[in-house]
Amino acid sequence: MFELCASILAADFADLARDVRAADAAGVDAFHIDVMDGHFVPAISFGPMVARTMRGLTAKPLDVHLMVEDPAPFVAELAGMGVERVSVHQEIPGGPGEVLAAIRCAGMGAGLVLNPDTPVTAAEPWLAQVNQILLMTVQPGRGGQAYLPGSNDRIAALRALLDKAGSQAVIQVDGGIKPQTLPGALQAGARSIVAGSAVFGGDIAQKVQALRRAAQTSR
Ligand code: DX5
Ligand code: ZN
Repeated sequence: MFELCASILAADFADLARDVRAADAAGVDAFHIDVMDGHFVPAISFGPMVARTMRGLTAKPLDVHLMVEDPAPFVAELAGMGVERVSVHQEIPGGPGEVLAAIRCAGMGAGLVLNPDTPVTAAEPWLAQVNQILLMTVQPGRGGQAYLPGSNDRIAALRALLDKAGSQAVIQVDGGIKPQTLPGALQAGARSIVAGSAVFGGDIAQKVQALRRAAQTSR
């Protein structure tokens, strides 16, 4: 069993409602919302207010990935919009401790994100405070990149670390997920799968079905 999170970064913003409803009807489990500030990553995507738009379009869980240097000011706003989960990067200035606590305090699930160059052991201090750990499987900042080699070893190493610590945290992966890369990520221990270009752009129902079918091969 895994959760498929559709990353709206790859959706058609000229017709976001159509794409979100199509992904919803195609059976995605949740929607992933990538907020970028032009500082933590070079690109600027959209602000947290897109989560409000999304809340009006779907009842499925909203999973917000904050690629921003200072995520703290957005926490209360996102909670007020009915967002279920917020993930922040381990690499932010000052570290993620306070903002992870604020996310949980606001009643949302807290996620810790590790960039591809950050060792999985960097998650250790925060295990008691997180519901999920998002392993970036591409460099953060844009969609449509190739799944980085070595990602499955990182997933497996993190799973071993979590099991040893008795942590129930879910491993989420983000970047380069396609029908070809999904089975390996699942086999290694990922249970929440973010996919942008593998869901949006083209026939959404068919693309979701291709991902689900690929997942069967990892059993
Ligand atoms: C990248 C974003 C991803 C992105 C994934 O920085 O965090 O969520 O949308 O896109 P794909 O699935 O196309 O690699
Ligand atoms: Zn993301």
